Amino acid sequence: MKFKTLKGLQDILPPDISLWHHIEATARDIFKNYGYREIRLPIMESTDVFTRSIGETSDIVEKEMYTFEDKGKRSVTLRPEGTASFVRAYVEHHIHNNPAPQKFYYMGPMFRYERPQAFRYRQFYQIGAEAMGVEDAKLDAEIISMLSRLLSTIGLTGLNFEVTSIGCKDCRPDYKKALKDYLGDKLKSFCGDCQRRYDANPLRILDCKVPGCIESRKGSPAVLDHLCEECSSHFDKLKHYLELLKVPHTINPNLVRGLDYYTKTAFEVSSENLGSQSAVAAGGRYDSMVKEFGGPPTPGIGFAMGIERIIPLIKNTIDVSDGPELLICPLGDEATEKGFQLTEQLRSNGLWAEINHEVTSLKSQMRKANRIGAKNVIVLGDDEIKAAQVVIRNMSDKSEVTSTLSIDELVKVIRRV
Ligand code: HAM
Repeated sequence: MKFKTLKGLQDILPPDISLWHHIEATARDIFKNYGYREIRLPIMESTDVFTRSIGETSDIVEKEMYTFEDKGKRSVTLRPEGTASFVRAYVEHHIHNNPAPQKFYYMGPMFRYERPQAFRYRQFYQIGAEAMGVEDAKLDAEIISMLSRLLSTIGLTGLNFEVTSIGCKDCRPDYKKALKDYLGDKLKSFCGDCQRRYDANPLRILDCKVPGCIESRKGSPAVLDHLCEECSSHFDKLKHYLELLKVPHTINPNLVRGLDYYTKTAFEVSSENLGSQSAVAAGGRYDSMVKEFGGPPTPGIGFAMGIERIIPLIKNTIDVSDGPELLICPLGDEATEKGFQLTEQLRSNGLWAEINHEVTSLKSQMRKANRIGAKNVIVLGDDEIKAAQVVIRNMSDKSEVTSTLSIDELVKVIRRV
């Protein structure tokens, strides 16, 4: 019987895995500079954690969650995103008792039952960051600046950084009314989902991907024109601080997020090279969520980036060739024994060393050295053992250096130090 990965899921193999390590290591470094600490959250939560926060009328909750009943008859869901789980943990562990801001990051798989296509998967990996407890727009600018620095340090260029404000519970009723007034006459031209959402949550109509709906909602009022005084002043401050920190960005009054928990600041980073799934990272403020989860009113802001969408953008610019620093090619039984011992000693000195386990002709051993990307090769025969001396051949520039069999000297020559 032959098995295959499920639709929308993928195996991540070498050499691509080196790109993943590069992204993860860069993120950890940058998070450290900004005081973010890692938090590891479960992959499953009680379904309510997501329905309550992401929103009953969102695509994620309506169509995309992997929800099932466990053996104890509880409804559980594979996390479609990290923020709701994070806020659940934040409240559960009373993290709000610590001085603000509290800053955390996470990395891991998320699950959405979406229609798979290029750069859209059913299991995908996010690196996310969340900062809690500060209302001031300086924190918004700081986290956007961090994301910008992170993406450029990873090696991404030509990104579009869009920022907006989507208001709060005070200005939303006014905006909802303006939107409903505008869409009311045209409602018949919208899909069934949008017609249903018109009453339940008209803002979701702005996020519908059906081409007819995209056309019909053109010219809708923008939320930026309906902000209350507080949201408006917060947004002005954000723009000022982004200028101060010289973070390149554009204001997009039509930016919509697919999750209901956002308030005030929202942002998205996209790349033209990803086709229709162009969002590389996105985030925003969620100032009411902690309270809704039973904690004391605590503002929060964060973002998440999709690793699968970053990989194709850096693939051709970052060298991921991997291979041992040294391959020993033994010729004969004695050389195999000596080489086997040497390999182990070199490894304990921090080198990635390998030995050919099959003694074949020199020609086929060299062919293998090339195939596995060995950086250096030692051919070990009777003469080398007798003289206790070997020639280390650098496979890229073909230079050769003679060394004794002393481990220290071998390591030095191989590392060219
Ligand atoms: P989101 O916009 O749903 O936000 O996802 C963030 C990023 O995850 C997207 O920009 C994209 O790069 C990636 N992504 C989403 N769905 C897929 C998919 N099916 N396949 C591949 N990549 C995907 C959130 O998840 C929020 N929790 C972000 C946040 C954190 N807001 C505040 N804090």
